[in-house]
Amino acid sequence: MLKVEVSPRYAERRNQLMRLAPEACFIFFGAPEPEGSAHRHPFRQNSDFFYLTEFDEPGAILVLCGGKSHLFVSDRNEAQEIWTGERYGAERAGSVFQMDEASRVMDFDSKLDLFLKDSKTVYYSLGTSAEQDSRILKAIQHSSRHRGKGRFGNLPIHDPRPHLSLLRSVKDELEIERMRKACAATAKAHLHLLKRVKAGMSEFDAANEFQYWLFKNGCTDLGYAPIFASGFNATTLHYVRNNDTLKHGDLLLVDAAGEFGGYTADLTQTFPVSGTFTPEQRKIYQSVLDVNREITRMARPGVNYRSLHSKSVELLTGALLELGVLQGELKENVNTQAYRSYFPHGLGHYLGLDVHDVGIYHEEGRDFELKPGMILTNEPGLYFRERGTPFFGIGVRIEDDLLITSSGAEVLTHETPRDIDAIEALRTIANS
Ligand code: GLY
Ligand code: MN
Ligand code: MN
Repeated sequence: MLKVEVSPRYAERRNQLMRLAPEACFIFFGAPEPEGSAHRHPFRQNSDFFYLTEFDEPGAILVLCGGKSHLFVSDRNEAQEIWTGERYGAERAGSVFQMDEASRVMDFDSKLDLFLKDSKTVYYSLGTSAEQDSRILKAIQHSSRHRGKGRFGNLPIHDPRPHLSLLRSVKDELEIERMRKACAATAKAHLHLLKRVKAGMSEFDAANEFQYWLFKNGCTDLGYAPIFASGFNATTLHYVRNNDTLKHGDLLLVDAAGEFGGYTADLTQTFPVSGTFTPEQRKIYQSVLDVNREITRMARPGVNYRSLHSKSVELLTGALLELGVLQGELKENVNTQAYRSYFPHGLGHYLGLDVHDVGIYHEEGRDFELKPGMILTNEPGLYFRERGTPFFGIGVRIEDDLLITSSGAEVLTHETPRDIDAIEALRTIANS
């Protein structure tokens, strides 16, 4: 069914972008038709394009120029629509997506000349497609020749992505609402796993169970390839085979989440396949949970993300020293990065339309500070791949999604239980 209501937020975002460079012409190509059969590889819109339009047909182009939004879309074609379903066509797309103008995509090249005529600069991402680049460069050369007869050189081209990165890293109300839904549904599906997973099931069975509850709770897709990693598999960070059998005594690490309205959650929980953690698993789990909680407590506007990562390194290294896995001084172990064998990834990342969303961490030697409206993950972990410690084969990650508020951080994924007692109570019932 075609969408008929689009939030005015999208037009506000386009206006916000145009205000950043009022004399520029912004050109955005949406994602092309998927290669091969669209049925096998479902279409996914380019995230910047989606952020500015919510238009989700392939092969569209957006031009923002002179304070106006122009959308170029494929023609309607009844023969084609037997395969693809109904398309908007220019007229309907223009009104539904609240554009100042909408045209057929085949008219783009001729109109581009007009747009460039009064622009002083062009914002366009070179390098995605040689064919698109050549169209844009030709148009720029043509327009520049025409107006300056070569005297002023070509119109300069800038990459729009830094602007988009800045805008997208602070979520507006509509985005926060969607993130809340994605995170709540994901957290509930994780809670459901705690109540249902049993030894003897496969990782794949657990993944199916998860997906069923995720979609039942309102998500419309998985946000990324899910990780259902039991036992030693949990020490592989991006384990996606999900074909092992769940065994008593093992932990199951689940890093899986759903998407709502284009926005994805990103949640990891780790729990025992049996009713209880072993003493070694319990120590590692509690160490990771303590770090996750301390980071949540510290996250607030004005703090920079790199300092939170450094804090997680310091705390996890301290835990490794206490557990006897590392020896010596805390400072020295941090400086030599001895912890990296056990905590090889960063504390987290921006989250939104993409699971590893755009956003700036540092720029020109300056660390970026957290601001209200940013959403980031908090995902400390410890992994033991080397034999010779009592913790061999244990992998624990605890990942929450944090919305930075005016005074702190709200845990959007709070509905997944994290305390050992609460987890063991649910796991004991599941296994009985
Ligand atoms: N799910 C991928 C990540 O946690 O970064
Ligand atoms: Mn993550
Ligand atoms: Mn994750």
